[in-house]
Amino acid sequence: MKFPIVAVAASVLSTAGLVAGDPHVIQVRAEDLQVRKHGGHSFKISQIFNYKYQHKVKGKGIRDVAKVYTKFNMKFPDHLREALVRVFGDLGVKIPGNLHALNDGSFSQGSQGAVDATPVQFDVQYLAPVQIGSPPQTVMMNFDTGSSDLWVFSSETPAKQRNGQKIYNMTQSTTAELVDGHVWRISYGDGSSSSGNVYTDKVSIGGVEVDKQAVEIATHVSDSFTNDAASSGLVGLAFDSINQVKPRKQKTFFGNAIDDLAMPLFSANLNKAEPGNYNFGFLDHEEFVGPISFVDVNASRGFWEFEASGYTLPASNFTESNNKTGVFQSLTHTAIADTGTTLLMLPQPIVEDYYGQVAKARNDNAFGGYVFPCNADLPDLILHIGSYKARLTGDLIKYAPADTDDFATAKWCYGGLQSAQGFPFSIYGDIFFKAQFVVFQGGVIDKDDWSKGAKLGFAAKPGTQLPQETETPAVPDVLPITNVTRPAGSGRRRTGGASCRARRQ
Ligand SMILES: *[C@@H]1O[C@H](CO)[C@@H](O)[C@H](O)[C@H]1NC(C)=O
Ligand SMILES: *[C@@H]1O[C@H](CO)[C@@H](O)[C@H](O)[C@H]1NC(C)=O
Ligand SMILES: *[C@@H]1O[C@H](CO)[C@@H](O)[C@H](O)[C@H]1NC(C)=O
Ligand SMILES: *[C@@H]1O[C@H](CO)[C@@H](O)[C@H](O)[C@H]1NC(C)=O
Ligand SMILES: *[C@@H]1O[C@H](CO)[C@@H](O)[C@H](O)[C@H]1NC(C)=O
Repeated sequence: MKFPIVAVAASVLSTAGLVAGDPHVIQVRAEDLQVRKHGGHSFKISQIFNYKYQHKVKGKGIRDVAKVYTKFNMKFPDHLREALVRVFGDLGVKIPGNLHALNDGSFSQGSQGAVDATPVQFDVQYLAPVQIGSPPQTVMMNFDTGSSDLWVFSSETPAKQRNGQKIYNMTQSTTAELVDGHVWRISYGDGSSSSGNVYTDKVSIGGVEVDKQAVEIATHVSDSFTNDAASSGLVGLAFDSINQVKPRKQKTFFGNAIDDLAMPLFSANLNKAEPGNYNFGFLDHEEFVGPISFVDVNASRGFWEFEASGYTLPASNFTESNNKTGVFQSLTHTAIADTGTTLLMLPQPIVEDYYGQVAKARNDNAFGGYVFPCNADLPDLILHIGSYKARLTGDLIKYAPADTDDFATAKWCYGGLQSAQGFPFSIYGDIFFKAQFVVFQGGVIDKDDWSKGAKLGFAAKPGTQLPQETETPAVPDVLPITNVTRPAGSGRRRTGGASCRARRQ
């Protein structure tokens, strides 16, 4: 048996501030979220700094935008393609063949062998250790709530497509088993792809083990992954339905582990300029303040997709001609919560309005997005998800130097907030996660399908909270977590050695 559904009026603080089309928010005090009796596991997994992370940041912003297009299989607009070619040229990087296809729009496979000592195109800053096989082989992976494959560089990845990545060698694991006839392929919007075969093996993250986790081993990886020398692959944490294994889709690590977790959830606590952490199966009350506001997730496209309601710009710069500040602007939009995307990609009107508050800010094709003078004082942005108000401080939106290699010399800075125009949804990426504590909760409705009834929970991080609307307890609703009482003294079992805390400023 999995998750019994029980309504508990006392645990529901409010269902506040709804207008038509808004998501229904359930505010829950953290102490009212209860641990399940069965499945006692929970663990904290701290990120570490990618020691091969490229500090050459020139063109970082546009490379991050390109990565979003690539990930969601969107074709680059011509201006973006042109700007990328320029950036790679400036960086002295061999320009991927597919970027040359400016005119006919056709893609060719990016050239291999350009990897030696070239700055990475798309590196990620933080990674987390994952153990695969028996005896365990430790590889550093990127946790990605915007995809659903656990794939890894392997002993079958051709040497010329490797660049120092630690590999998983199946032949050295006594528990590795080939899933006969199964293959995986992930195609990216720049025409490249990664692909390979599928094994099952023991996978352990932070001491919680899944015995027969599908491990997708790469027999081919695209240039951008080759170039990311410290990262051995991805741990996909979106829904099982978008897993790319054929003919039979495989479950994600979370999908396999969920029954054994003390709470059917994981949380992301990412930070600006320092490693953050993921917790599986429990909530660390020191990582957030106030109640958690839960909204429904629409898992039909396989992402952690939710409805957001609009935004508020602060009132500090209110003028007659610029009187939208301090006033809630309703602009409902569908969004996904994606730790695997760096930027915050929002509907064009929000982005325009935001940068409208910043003197000299502009959308500049040459830079591949919105830039502003680095000495600008950026306003806060408040995003509304139903009655929940998520505050992003302006400093988070000052993302990268645009015209030189570092902030000290740059005149123009690239915005962490960019337009999602052309995308099927807005993308709440790492810029958002740095400001908010986010809970990814598996569903409690269908015992065979954890995507049904899944919810996302949002809470402020210590020091950045806004007053939230709280109302008298409203109509009882389905509590996001099961109503099983925590056995005395237990419920926070942290297994394994990955329980060190992330530093906090
Ligand atoms: C994988 O392990 C086998 C057995 O130890 C070894 O012969 C082989 O060279 C390894 N492959 C790689 C690419 O390291
Ligand atoms: C969920 O998303 C799908 C695809 O975007 C949409 O067709 C469907 O109406 C949505 N369901 C709800 C309940 O909003
Ligand atoms: C904002 O300004 C517009 C015209 O500039 C005016 O019509 C509108 O009433 C103003 N709104 C508020 C809230 O002051
Ligand atoms: C306030 O807004 C105006 C108009 O959008 C802009 O010109 C000005 O620079 C802003 N001031 C600050 C301090 O951001
Ligand atoms: C659920 O929890 C509440 C309060 O903790 C309790 O009053 C209620 O009896 C519980 N329901 C079940 C079915 O255990």
